[in-house]
Amino acid sequence: MTQRKLRLGAFIMATGHHIAAWRHPGSQIDSGVNIDHYIEVAKIAEKGLFDQVFVADSPGLSYRGKDQESFSRQGRVSHFEPVTLWSALAAVTKHIGFVATASTTYEDPYLLARKFASLDHISKGRAAWNVVTTAAQNVHGNFGLNQHPDPATRYEKAHEFVEVVKGLWDSFEDDAFIRDAESGVYFDPAKLHTLNHEGKHFKVKGPLNLERPPQGYPVIVQAGSSEDGRELAAATAEAIFTAWNTLEEAQAFYQDVKSRLAKYGRKPEQLLILPGISPVVGRTQEEAEAKWKALQDLIHPSVGLGTIAHFWPDEDLSKWDLDALPPYYPTPPAGINSRQHLVIELAQRERFTVRQLYQYLAGARGHWVVVGTPEKIADEIQSWFENGAADGFNVMPPVLPESLNDFVELVIPELQRRGLFRTEYEGTTLRENLGLERPANRYADAADQARKAG
Ligand SMILES: Cc1cc2nc3c(=O)[nH]c(=O)nc-3n(C[C@H](O)[C@H](O)[C@H](O)COP(=O)(O)O)c2cc1C
Repeated sequence: MTQRKLRLGAFIMATGHHIAAWRHPGSQIDSGVNIDHYIEVAKIAEKGLFDQVFVADSPGLSYRGKDQESFSRQGRVSHFEPVTLWSALAAVTKHIGFVATASTTYEDPYLLARKFASLDHISKGRAAWNVVTTAAQNVHGNFGLNQHPDPATRYEKAHEFVEVVKGLWDSFEDDAFIRDAESGVYFDPAKLHTLNHEGKHFKVKGPLNLERPPQGYPVIVQAGSSEDGRELAAATAEAIFTAWNTLEEAQAFYQDVKSRLAKYGRKPEQLLILPGISPVVGRTQEEAEAKWKALQDLIHPSVGLGTIAHFWPDEDLSKWDLDALPPYYPTPPAGINSRQHLVIELAQRERFTVRQLYQYLAGARGHWVVVGTPEKIADEIQSWFENGAADGFNVMPPVLPESLNDFVELVIPELQRRGLFRTEYEGTTLRENLGLERPANRYADAADQARKAG
């Protein structure tokens, strides 16, 4: 039996996941619009044999606070559109996969199917789509809507959207293109299929004006953790990004999502569960902690307060003593999600000061942060991997490129020594490297039989 191998993605956030990363000397200050930075980062990840690089996205600038001073200190207000970015990087890399986020609430299925099929061809089979319904509450104005659709509507639309896109990717059968200069026949029209989709949310005729992607379909990724999000993942996704801070929470999620697959006729290994981990690596524990402290000290108080102001919408937090307990813990205001409820509970239980609360959130927006030696980080990864909590991880470097380099130089060799991680790429496509099957074309079997019969 082949040993189950850990899957690793690098979650690339311009200057890094830490909120103050852009001020750190180890980051590239203008990285959001610096293609050379992304080339460097993708090459580091490929050198480390990562399965994929991933960028998150929202089709608009979202900012919760009202404070202009805090806003002016945000390092994340300007960055590339993901498919465009990955298309450029596909040309300068060979093995690494590219996960681009795109919204089923605000994009158009035909155009999206075409973009991702193009990326899959350009990268020779290394594309993936992170299907999101868009978390940001305030981008609807960019699309002529008066409000952000409610979660149930967004998820209902998402199911139909993904089905339409897959249908469009099947427009041409895999062997539809003959391209025989001698006979002058370019393709076989019998192997071209028109979708003619008419559903509740979309009416899309097809076919797509691009041949089937090398992977059949680009890999489908999902990142929601609500009931609806889990169900969408079970029905359609092949990898799911998620965020947990303890082994027990991660195990419960893993169990829950894997157990939903059977009703869609799917096997547990057809969906990879990849929690986030933000590693702060040092050669010694002291070095790692010093690195972490240096980063935390770079958080300007107004930026820190900006990350928690929505918990107390009626207060002027700038008057508060940062090193005292908040005057009261709020009842979470309507509209914030379940993870933020947990943050407030945690702050109350641990008696966080105002500064400690924002420092907790600033690291990786509440994702799991591990500060330590390569051995300690590998221990944590191994423990989750071997105890039913993860099939791999979405590694979230606090500072880019520096922290990704640290991970590749120090943690990857430790994972390889333990036999947990690959020492070379197994395949040429992202699907092959992730151990995922290539989906059959929905029309091919039926069409073959009809051709034989007729
Ligand atoms: C690792 C990770 C990455 C995510 N990336 C995005 C993103 O790029 N864009 C987005 O709109 N939402 C993103 N989300 C949020 C989810 O897609 C989803 O909208 C959010 O979790 C709320 O959905 P839920 O209520 O199903 O959890 C991400 C979530 C996680 C855990």
